Amino acid sequence: MMFLVCIAVIVAICLLFKFLNATDIPYIHGIPEASGLPIFGSLFELGDNHSKALSRMAKKLGPVFQIRMGNRRIVVANSYDSIKELWIKNQTALSSRPALHTFHSVISSSQGLSIGTSPWDDSCKQRRKAAATALNKPAVQSYMPIIDLESYTAINEILRECDDGKADINIIPHLQRFALNTSLTLNYGTRISNSFDQLLKEIVEVEGAVAQFRSASNNWQDYVPLLRIFPARSNAANSIRLRRDRYLGYLLEKLKKEIVNSTDKPCITGNILKDPAAKLCEAEMKSICLTMISAALETVPTNIILGIGYLSSPHGQEIQERAYREIQDVYPDGDAWDRCLTEERVPYVTALYKEILRYYTVHHMSLPRQSIQEIHYNGARIPAGTSFYMNAFAGDYDENHYQDPHAFNPDRYLGDTDGTPHYAYGAGTRMCIGAHLANRELYTFFIRLIFGFRILGPLDKTYAPVLDGMEVNAVPTALVVQPKMFKCRFEPRNREDFEFWLDSSRQRAENY
Ligand code: HEM
Repeated sequence: MMFLVCIAVIVAICLLFKFLNATDIPYIHGIPEASGLPIFGSLFELGDNHSKALSRMAKKLGPVFQIRMGNRRIVVANSYDSIKELWIKNQTALSSRPALHTFHSVISSSQGLSIGTSPWDDSCKQRRKAAATALNKPAVQSYMPIIDLESYTAINEILRECDDGKADINIIPHLQRFALNTSLTLNYGTRISNSFDQLLKEIVEVEGAVAQFRSASNNWQDYVPLLRIFPARSNAANSIRLRRDRYLGYLLEKLKKEIVNSTDKPCITGNILKDPAAKLCEAEMKSICLTMISAALETVPTNIILGIGYLSSPHGQEIQERAYREIQDVYPDGDAWDRCLTEERVPYVTALYKEILRYYTVHHMSLPRQSIQEIHYNGARIPAGTSFYMNAFAGDYDENHYQDPHAFNPDRYLGDTDGTPHYAYGAGTRMCIGAHLANRELYTFFIRLIFGFRILGPLDKTYAPVLDGMEVNAVPTALVVQPKMFKCRFEPRNREDFEFWLDSSRQRAENY
């Protein structure tokens, strides 16, 4: 009898182990596999910084390999060409997103999913189409008054604070408000008038925390279901969800009241609310609101902040002087401040923001994908339903594609540059739909900054910026790079001209 009980216990343990050690997709023949531990797979080896760890593994295994993260099997691409092959050539097959426990079941249980986290279905297609229409070239041009006002406000604040180039300034709060206001105005027709406002602080803090719950390296319970029995992480996610519900509800209700009182400003949500023929239901509209707030809040300002940091270095100052000369060549009458709102005519500044996007690739691991059809890669058959991770940072630093990728060099984007310039915006069917808006924001901001100021390093060298694309990140587990705090100085090139330009934006803002 005892013997039978022992056998039963052993069989039960074996079955339990088999169950806990199983993966959603079985081993894929023909794709190298990273080593790992039972149940946890490669989670320990991946550590905090997935991009860095995966690049190390790629040196042994080649650019494409499979890893196990707990019970998930994931195919990872780590080079420019392999990303192109999987994300662009197979774009129809790679059009979905995986559902992850913490983000999809806890954080999103009340407001629904943003577009960037939605699996591919009819609702996702419809929301993506509505948002893409609101972010296409003509639509973005109609938003330029918003970018005029917000870049003017941020630069005006910097001018007031700069003490003619003698003060070391932390620009992060100014840039956060710039990005948030752009999203709030586009989406709700509302803005925050002070960089230190409580609502601004709350949104920045909560969206930062939400991003942590989306990060692949920060949520082991998404991969090891057994860990979900410890509720601490889910409780923290719930509290963030409730704080987020509060301000999203407040913003939507405020807009609804403004519509009733006819005091609303033109905006995307207002247009949907007022249009009886709009095909989106309330939940889908909320999803678009959520998307607009979360997608632009960190990405755009982080690129501007990191770009400013680089420009303040000795090499960056050479780049500034060249950009300044090229702006003057195109605009000898000194009207670059206004003209950058309607045209993008300084190729060196376009090349500069492309290089900032590549060099600092702020989504190191892009956003995860899931295949909806079988994919054939190098003779291997990767089944539908497999998760795919793009090591975008590795793709953007691929020595087989970029000459001297570790050098910051805008020149690489001058002249004929066919194809995908970088993977900062992802690639293929689910590529970023805000890229055009983001590019216009980056171009306008850098034209105005470089035309108005000499950006210099801080007097107090302890605040000097970290320049390296990977080391600049203060939180390696974050979904979007979190710049290490630094300070720099802004020396106005000509105060009189500056006041004149600011005045022109101020007058336009009053009329807007
Ligand atoms: C410099 C700024 C930005 C960067 C670096 C960036 C980066 C990205 C990346 C890497 C993805 C995932 C793409 C993929 O899976 O291939 C993405 C998706 C997305 N982005 Fe952006 N983004 C930026 C700005 C914006 C802005 C301003 C908006 C809108 C206001 C926006 C809206 C979206 C949306 C809606 C998606 C999801 C697309 C989908 O899943 O179909 N992004 N972005």
